[in-house]
Amino acid sequence: MSINNVQIFDTTLRDGEQVPGCKLNTEQKLIIANRLDILGVDVIEAGFPVSSPGDYNSVLEISKIIKNATVCALTRANQKDIEVAAAALKYAKRPRIHTGIGTSDSHIIYKFNSTQDKIIERAIEAVAYAKKFVEDVEFYAEDAGRTSNEFLAKVCEQVIKAGATVLNIPDTTGYCLPDEYGAKIKFLKENVKGIHNVIISCHCHNDLGLATANAIAGVQNGARQIECTINGIGERAGNTALEEVVMILKQHPYLNLDTNINTRLLYETSQLVQQSMGMIVQPNKAIIGENAFAHSSGIHQDGVIKNRETYEIINPADVGVNESSIILTARSGRAALAYRAKNVGYDLTKIELDDIYPQFLQFADHHKEVNDNDLHHLMELNHIHKTSIAI
Ligand code: KIV
Ligand code: ZN
Repeated sequence: MSINNVQIFDTTLRDGEQVPGCKLNTEQKLIIANRLDILGVDVIEAGFPVSSPGDYNSVLEISKIIKNATVCALTRANQKDIEVAAAALKYAKRPRIHTGIGTSDSHIIYKFNSTQDKIIERAIEAVAYAKKFVEDVEFYAEDAGRTSNEFLAKVCEQVIKAGATVLNIPDTTGYCLPDEYGAKIKFLKENVKGIHNVIISCHCHNDLGLATANAIAGVQNGARQIECTINGIGERAGNTALEEVVMILKQHPYLNLDTNINTRLLYETSQLVQQSMGMIVQPNKAIIGENAFAHSSGIHQDGVIKNRETYEIINPADVGVNESSIILTARSGRAALAYRAKNVGYDLTKIELDDIYPQFLQFADHHKEVNDNDLHHLMELNHIHKTSIAI
């Protein structure tokens, strides 16, 4: 069976940068955009040009340097936003305007004080207007997650007729369950005329911790683009994490879905974004967190030392992490102590290991972690000399 490509639409520089305290200057954005291009993302959402002169300038400069990816700019459904976005994208090799409007009752009533018919009219006008400037127009139905499938289908059919090339179905508030979001995509595939000529895109937020699960449910039901950010940063609880969806598709080849991402660059890209934004991810973050390949309990360490696959489903090298780490704590067993001692040059005999292990445990009980210096000290106290060169 042939493998279906899922386009990766990175919005680190737009939805990700909306995070309080994560503001980047143009120079930082250029460095990240260039790294995203090398990583292999298909689309870079570079900003929301009408929002500020700085954002306009960033989109303009990013458009000049990006060689492979489509460069996309966000707008609301009005002519001024679209004109400014088009101007900011004028140097892009592959420009895309991302325009749209809220479609849920909550947005229509409270945000726009409008009606469903008027919202459809504005959606059509926005897409048709964007089409005057660029061929590639993506439409977002904001709060699609809480929009009835029937009305959403109506909106989608009309914007396809107006020329939309990509339909973004955002779960803006992170409300949907994976079954529900997947069913929404399936409903659109089965009920919208012209849907087979466009790409359906998943844009999921993480308010209930389901952003990644929902995006995967979306592509399992026919969506072919995922909007995501490095480290899952974004409004409130964040967006779908790029590294997570990419590795899920890679680790489950029977889904027949793959991306163009060079996964070996995931860790360094994550580090770049963390450092540039000053937003450090939690150690237990999937794929790129500091503990993602660290083993500290004796049972797990023993298994990993015998064969990495006993407790790791991803080869760390596949995401650009040098190796799995065996952390020495009071929960570690003899196998881990022998392994780490060997790494720093001591090939312990069984007798030496049996002698030293109780001392190690006593020390470890009073410290969070036992490091290489502590190991050297322990060996000195026991008159154990190096037998090999440290690895
Ligand atoms: O979450 C959302 O709905 C968005 C749109 C502007 C695409 O970010
Ligand atoms: Zn969003």
